[in-house]
Parts: sequence; C-alpha cells; structure tokens
Amino acid sequence: MKNTVKPISLTQYLVEHQRRNGSIPGDLRLLIEVVARACKRISIAVNKGALGDVLGSAETENVQGEVQKKLDVIANEVLIEANEWGGHLAAMASEEMDDIHIVPHRYPQGEYLLLFDPLDGSSNIDVNVSIGTIFSVLKKLDNGVKVSEADFLQPGRQQAAAGYCVYGPQTTLVLTFGDGVAMFTLDREQGSFMLTHDNVRIAPDTAEFAINMSNKRHWSAPMNRYIDECLAGKEGPRGKDFNMRWIASMVADVHRIMSRGGIFMYPWDKREPEKAGKLRLMYEANPMAFLIEQAGGAATNGKQRILDLQPTKLHERVSVMLGSKNEVDTVTAYHREAG
Ligand code: AHG
Ligand code: MN
Ligand code: MN
Repeated sequence: MKNTVKPISLTQYLVEHQRRNGSIPGDLRLLIEVVARACKRISIAVNKGALGDVLGSAETENVQGEVQKKLDVIANEVLIEANEWGGHLAAMASEEMDDIHIVPHRYPQGEYLLLFDPLDGSSNIDVNVSIGTIFSVLKKLDNGVKVSEADFLQPGRQQAAAGYCVYGPQTTLVLTFGDGVAMFTLDREQGSFMLTHDNVRIAPDTAEFAINMSNKRHWSAPMNRYIDECLAGKEGPRGKDFNMRWIASMVADVHRIMSRGGIFMYPWDKREPEKAGKLRLMYEANPMAFLIEQAGGAATNGKQRILDLQPTKLHERVSVMLGSKNEVDTVTAYHREAG
C-alpha cells in the first residue's frame, strides 16, 4: 500500500475534514485527540516491555472471567484518566470494567459515550507480537436524563466515530467518522500522528483468510463448509488456492485486511453453545464493522449485518465475519442457506 497523501498531522486532518464534510464537531475532535494522546502513552508503555514492568499478569480477573495482564489494566487507566476531564464525555465503558464509568461530578458532562477494548490481543503482549486498542463513539440520546448503561445499547450503525490503534513495528491509528477511513502513523520524533493513507479501500475479492483453525471441530456445518472449500484450493469448488494468517490480535488481523484485503472470522462454536461468540459486540465487533464497511468491506455475524444488531447488554458477545465483501457474502450465504 503506497502513501496516498502528503503527511499532515491528525489535528490538521480533523480541522480540514470538519471544514469540508462537517462530520467532526469540536467536542468530537477533542475526544479523538484525547484518545490519540492516550494511545501514544499506551504505545510508549508497550515499547518499554521488560524494562518498564509492563509485562505479565496483574493477577486479577475482569468481568469476562479472563485473567488481566498488567498492560490491560495500565491501558484501561490511561484511557479513563485521559478522557475524564475534557467535558466531551458523559460516560465510558470498557472490556476491563464490569459497569459503565460515569464522568465524575467535578468535571462537566458532555454528550458523547466512549467504549473501548483498551488492549486487544493480550495473549501477544509477553511475546512481542502486535497488539492494539479499539474504540467506539456513540452519542447519548436522551439529554437531560442521568446517563446509564441503557444509553450505550445502541446498534453499531449509530456510531459517530470508531477507530483502532495498532502497536506493531509502527504505531498506526485508523479512524472513521462515517465518511471513509484514514490511517495515521505515529512520528515518534515529532510526537504526532501523521496522515499516511486517506480513503482506504478493501478489494472485494481475496484469497486470504484468518481464523483459529484449532477450533474447527467445534464449528457449525456452514462454517466448516466455507473453510473446507477454501482448503480444497484450485482443485475444489472455489477454483483458487487460499492462504491463511492468524495473529490472534483482532486489531492486527483487521489491520492486515485494511492494508491488503482478506477475511477474518471468529465464529460461534459448540463448546459453549449459549455464547454467541468470543468477541464482544460493543467494543470489538461494532467499531471494526464500521471501519470495514467504510472501507468498502462487509461485516456480519453469519446471518445479519453486525451494525444492525440491537445490543442487549454491555459485554454481549457475537460471532464475527468481516473483510473483503465477496468472501463475507459467500460465508454469510452458507449460514443463511443452512437456516
Ligand atoms: P482480548 O485480548 O481483548 O481479550 O481479545 C482477544 C481476542 C482477539 O483479539 C483475537 O482475535 C482473539 O481473541 C484470539 O483468540 P484465540 O486466542 O482463540 O486465537
Ligand atoms: Mn479484544
Ligand atoms: Mn482486551
């Protein structure tokens, strides 16, 4: 992927975008700048690794029953601290907190709601593999009423903005406000995110899939059909060879798809049939689905468009298939046919 733009700073991008499209009011711009600053701090902590006492387990559990890593806790605290005082938010919600975090009374309350997965790909922290932060921005609907969890339970299509930051060989911030996708690379000498790709587009066709194959025996019949056909390659019904990649950080897997196409799947499986999937709807699937659609891709749970799902609780899980449109359409058609 070649750079398509002259590098301007994130601030300049936000101001010019508002002038042109009117989709980034002042409060939303402040919110994004604050989140970007928090991501910079997380990136610095990630880079310190073993030198900074940031590796290993925090020996606590989050609401999902997962053991928290030190960086899960650090990243969560950085995001909360950065976002509390600005007056742009009413409340926040995070993978690492049971309940919503209302902006304390000593600060003014704004009209936006921020949700995040502070550190995605926790199993990769200690082995120096790419990880990331995912976030979603909603608007509080009933103004004047005290903010509650119910305000957060909006379908993903109502997001005002969404993005992720990948902490890899480069630190890259990817953003959408519902009118395209832009990528910014952290210039460590200047300390600024610089626009490096605008109008990111995902090709509709691909021969690359990302899925945790070790769960294959637990998948549904349509999921197995889709992957079996990919594995059959040139000689099979798809008539072409496929390649597989699995980083085990959704952010990094999605970033590869944003850069060169592909399909990412984390489907429902039989081990815990009552769970819709592993990934969380509100702060993993929704923001990623918004970004992917804005880049011309598609995102479903196998049956329905992710952005149309009505959430029923903050930490709801969902089955996820997203990326290059024609592949997502194929795997979704197999699920629909199976009923
Ligand atoms: P998190 O670290 O925020 O809990 O998310 C991990 C998720 C996602 O990033 C990744 O795609 C998936 O879990 C990896 O799952 P497996 O370990 O089953 O491969
Ligand atoms: Mn995650
Ligand atoms: Mn996480």
